[in-house]
Amino acid sequence: MTVKKGQAVELDVVDVAFGGKGLARADGMAVFVDGAVAGDRVLARIVKRKKQYAEARILQLLHPSADRVAAPCPYSGVCGGCKWQNLAYPRQLAYKRRHVAETLAHVGGLAQIPVHPAVAADPIFGYRNKMEFSCTDRRWLMPAEMDREDVAKGFALGLHVPGTFDKVLDIEACLLMPSSGNAILGRIREQIRLSGLPPYGLRSHRGFWRFVMLRHSLAEDRWLVNLVTAGENREALQPLAHRLMADFDRIAGVVNNVTDRPAAIAVGQFERPLAGSPVLKDRIGPWEFEISANSFFQTNSRAAARLYETVQRYAGLDGTQAVLDLYSGTGTIPIFLSPAARQVVGIEIVAAAVADARRNCQRNGVGNCRFIEGDIRTVLAGLDLKPDVVIVDPPRAGMHADVVARLLELAPPRIVYVSCNPATLARDLGLLADAYRVAEVQPVDMFPHTFHIEAVARLERKI
Ligand SMILES: C[S@@+](CC[C@H](N)C(=O)[O-])C[C@H]1O[C@@H](n2cnc3c(N)ncnc32)[C@H](O)[C@@H]1O
Repeated sequence: MTVKKGQAVELDVVDVAFGGKGLARADGMAVFVDGAVAGDRVLARIVKRKKQYAEARILQLLHPSADRVAAPCPYSGVCGGCKWQNLAYPRQLAYKRRHVAETLAHVGGLAQIPVHPAVAADPIFGYRNKMEFSCTDRRWLMPAEMDREDVAKGFALGLHVPGTFDKVLDIEACLLMPSSGNAILGRIREQIRLSGLPPYGLRSHRGFWRFVMLRHSLAEDRWLVNLVTAGENREALQPLAHRLMADFDRIAGVVNNVTDRPAAIAVGQFERPLAGSPVLKDRIGPWEFEISANSFFQTNSRAAARLYETVQRYAGLDGTQAVLDLYSGTGTIPIFLSPAARQVVGIEIVAAAVADARRNCQRNGVGNCRFIEGDIRTVLAGLDLKPDVVIVDPPRAGMHADVVARLLELAPPRIVYVSCNPATLARDLGLLADAYRVAEVQPVDMFPHTFHIEAVARLERKI
């Protein structure tokens, strides 16, 4: 069979490919099928044809895989928020574990490493403690809305559709956040529409309403509402804030972040408190943290506790060790490790995160953690410390090669590497492989129904 663009073909989906697409074979080449599950037989249209591979879109599901489940969200398959709702959760976990193991083998040259079954998230819906909804003047329509005259196309408050930057699905309820957030979102939408002020055009860069960010404290079951706008307008915002506080007793506070920067980032150039408290308190394990609208905080509080427990176990501390925590953020890992360490030194580049980390230590009565603000590349070069254990938790890009080189010079007996990107984890472990043995890797699922997976690796110095 010769596969051509535009052609409709019957395909047996045999596996899952990187990025979560179904993998089929036709004409001796790989065909990636969006939304397909291994075990499906589908009629699909070829939408892209390259030399080595093709891409296809499902026209009809001829025979569903036994691993398919009904997606509970009506936006599933269109929304970019999560794309794996149609796959049974145990299968998601198995694919995530396999992805970590295969990436370590293929990218890092590290086969034969024990990669444990992924730690499951629980619950698998309503787990996100922070959601950012975009406001725009161009609405992406669901298939059933296409011919409806009553659907206004010039306004949406919701989530992006993959591959579009300016169009947004108007989302009435997102199943990834606790359900009480959806009523708040609905009331905000109604009030935004009544305000007479325009939504922000992601193409035109004109308009007022930009984002609605909702943060939830699991420990207190309270919400912080952050209205992100392109300018200040107290007359419009103050009554809305009071209205929200009056209507929802679980709202702790409402703030306004203001930014006229074109970048689609929901962080204000400045913040104005509008009503109630501008901060939330939440817990990870036994520790309490104060979170403002712009603080970094793990977005799944329950799963973060599982992640940090793994770090704690892999660090193997007995109260005598000096620990160095690279990329320390708001100090959550140092605080978690503090009871079992002699001393923890954290290094972090964002000044506000370092300030949060110091405050979080005070709040929790932790006295043996110290934080250095700066770029790890520079700070590490001049650091006078002989750590027994180094924890690293870099951003998706992984560690800079200079940091890896300096880590090899420091030569701690043990390294615990926390990663949100298996590809850079594999690359960095490969760079450390002459001096360190990867003893075990524990994937931890923090984001059910997405392809993302965190992994914690324990490295032991060889000599
Ligand atoms: C994945 S987060 C880890 C945060 C923390 N360990 C936690 O669990 O909440 C990565 C952190 O690295 C910081 N970072 C990124 N590049 C850095 C650099 N070159 N030097 C120091 N810190 C950096 C970021 O600001 C961010 O806080």
